[in-house]
Amino acid sequence: MRRKLAAGNWKMNGTPDSLAEIEALMRMQAAPGVEILICPPATLIAQAAARVGDHPIAIGGQDCHPKAQGAHTGDLSAAMLAAAGATHVILGHSERRADHGESDALVRAKAEAAHAAGLIAVICVGETLEEREDGRAEQVVTRQQAGSLPDGASAANTIVAYEPVWAIGTGKVPGTDDIGAIHGAMRAALAERFEDADEMRLLYGGSVKGSNAAEIFAVADVDGALVGGASLTAQDFSPIVAAL
Ligand code: G3P
Repeated sequence: MRRKLAAGNWKMNGTPDSLAEIEALMRMQAAPGVEILICPPATLIAQAAARVGDHPIAIGGQDCHPKAQGAHTGDLSAAMLAAAGATHVILGHSERRADHGESDALVRAKAEAAHAAGLIAVICVGETLEEREDGRAEQVVTRQQAGSLPDGASAANTIVAYEPVWAIGTGKVPGTDDIGAIHGAMRAALAERFEDADEMRLLYGGSVKGSNAAEIFAVADVDGALVGGASLTAQDFSPIVAAL
C-alpha cells in the first residue's frame, strides 16, 4: 500500500514568520496513511525542523549539489541538508532545469548524492507546452524519468513528481485522463527497471488547489501532490491534505 503524500514546495518564498504556517499544519489532523512534507527555502530548514520536532511532518530541501563537499560557492550538499534536519530533497524541478540548465544526468548524480546522505529524493519530470502540443509528452516524461533516476532508486528512497511545465503556477491542469495516462506510463517504465515499482510513489504537481485536489487524487497511480503556490499557507494547503 503506497502512503499518500502532500508535499509543499515553497520555492523562493518564506522568512522566519512563515514558520507559523507549519505550526498551523501541525495542529491539523491528517488522515491515517497521509504524509505531509514541506520544502522551505534552505535558510529555513533547520528552524522548520526544530519547530516540527517529533511531529510527523517532514522537512525537505529544494536542491543539493552532487558532491559531498568542496569549493562550490553558494551550493549545499545533501549531507548538509540532512544535518539541518531535512529528510527529503526535491531534485530536477523544471525551474532548476530551466534556470540552471540542469540535465537528467546531473539530476541523477544529485539523486545519488541524496541517497548517500540518507535523503529521499523527490525527482521532478514534466513536458513543456510545445512538447505536449507535438504529442511528445509521454515520451519526454519517461525519457526524463529514465535519465534522472539512478540505478539505486527504490520506493524507500525515491518519489517521482510529474509536473507539466505549462501547468506550474498557471492555473491550468491537464485533464484527469491525461494525468492518468502519463502516470500509468511512468509506472510501467519504472516496472521495467525497478523490482518495487509498484511501491514507488508518483506525485502530480502543477496548479493543485483545494478545489481540484480530490479529482486529481482519484486518478489511478497518483499518490499525492507536489504543490507550489497553494502550499505557502496552511489555509490553502490543509484542504489539499484533507483531500488525500
Ligand atoms: O513544485 C511544485 C510546483 O512547481 C507547482 O507549483 O504553484 O503550480 O502549485 P504550483
